[in-house]
Amino acid sequence: MRRIMVANPKGGSGKSTLAIHLASWFARNDELVYLADLDRQQSTRNWLKERPGHLAPIHHWEVDSDEFDKPPANCNVAVLDTPAGLHGKRLKLFLNEMDKVLVPVSPSRFDMLACREFFEELSEMKAVRKDRVDIGVVGMRVDPRTIASRQLVDFLQQFDLPLIACIRQAQRYVHAVETGVTLFDGGTVDPVDQIQWKPLLDWLVRRR
Ligand SMILES: Nc1ncnc2c1ncn2[C@@H]1O[C@H](COP(=O)(O)OP(=O)(O)O)[C@@H](O)[C@H]1O
Ligand SMILES: [Mg+2]
Repeated sequence: MRRIMVANPKGGSGKSTLAIHLASWFARNDELVYLADLDRQQSTRNWLKERPGHLAPIHHWEVDSDEFDKPPANCNVAVLDTPAGLHGKRLKLFLNEMDKVLVPVSPSRFDMLACREFFEELSEMKAVRKDRVDIGVVGMRVDPRTIASRQLVDFLQQFDLPLIACIRQAQRYVHAVETGVTLFDGGTVDPVDQIQWKPLLDWLVRRR
């Protein structure tokens, strides 16, 4: 079973958007996917309720906010969406159960600085669990060809965290959140989006 967590201390950084896309990509690839939402706002839980029944199924799995309830035994891929402000003991509790952790970050100076302490915490935890967890950053609303994405790479170097992929800003992501249908649920994915997602999806399926 793959266990993937999406986390970032800031609200609005793209955690839920990333989580639903990962869940639907794996579901489209015939994996039995469970999606859990630790956020009291229950964005991904509500998204799942909107999801049309004819699409590749994604199952809900209930997680208590203070302890890790394992996904059902038949699960192939577990995706855990988390709330803003997850840190300290609770972050450690959930991180200890994961194989992969993804942090969506916007390249704005403010957002990067807001993440500094979180990245420090993550890089310490990564050092402790170095053989068991991969932690990667995703530039959200970032064009990979811009100076902003290079600044993000430079910023991440001090924490020894890789920038795995950059996902552009596009209305289709907003639409996905609203409709229960992601970019991966339609017939073909726009080639630009395919190129942007590929390194991230490759990183996720890579065995350690
Ligand atoms: N790449 C993107 N392009 C355009 N809008 C985005 C993108 N990523 C996220 N959004 C929008 O930004 C808002 C916040 O994203 P969300 O995933 O809910 O963040 P979080 O879960 O971190 O609070 C949502 O309205 C979402 O549709
Ligand atoms: Mg969210």
